[in-house]
Amino acid sequence: MSKQKKLAPSILSADFVNLERDITMIQNAGADLLHIDVMDGHFVPNLTLGPPIVKAIKGIATVPCDVHLMISNPAEFVDAYCDAGADYLTVHVEAATHLHRVIQHIKSKGVKAGVSLNPHTPLSSIEEVLGDLDLILIMSVNPGFGGQSFIPNTLDRLRRLNKMLEERGLSDQVEIEIDGGAKYDNMAEILEAGTDIIVSGSGVFKADDPVQMVKDMKALLAKYS
Ligand code: DX5
Ligand code: ZN
Repeated sequence: MSKQKKLAPSILSADFVNLERDITMIQNAGADLLHIDVMDGHFVPNLTLGPPIVKAIKGIATVPCDVHLMISNPAEFVDAYCDAGADYLTVHVEAATHLHRVIQHIKSKGVKAGVSLNPHTPLSSIEEVLGDLDLILIMSVNPGFGGQSFIPNTLDRLRRLNKMLEERGLSDQVEIEIDGGAKYDNMAEILEAGTDIIVSGSGVFKADDPVQMVKDMKALLAKYS
């Protein structure tokens, strides 16, 4: 309960023609982070954006940029995305052959290092690097698209991850983030299972009133902070 709970709207569901307008809107409404989904059409069956767009977003960001790399061979792109302005850079454990090296590389750039796990990936796959991480991103959908349904088993995974961190005395140094299918209506159970950062794409941008939705979500997060 000690860490401040954060909201990270995913700009994947924003209006790309009016990206600056949408980013400004959610920042002014109280978003804590900008979640930026990078997809390569290989690790996931969808393509999104590259370093020049992250750099452009960084130019208008007033909150940290949380860059989620859903790409093969993430080691090859660490420099490009750090230099573009990532404040958090997250790679997938399934895609990083030399995970420990990639984490150290990200940290050497002065950027917070995150590792993400797909829904099928055992928590034990990151056990040996837990002490090196700033962020653990638990996927609550299969990555690739916005607007999917939250996978219920994620709640149990969150509880087990929290236990793993507690047993190692790492709860205060690693943030836990949840990504996929998070909406106002299921946020309470996600927070109760133990998470610090909630990503929400369609839950924010497809709401009737995205500004009010950010405010409502932030009010709920404050209750658990
Ligand atoms: C999915 C992305 C998510 C996505 C979340 O692959 O990593 O960040 O944008 O979108 P919603 O909240 O709509 O599930
Ligand atoms: Zn994401």
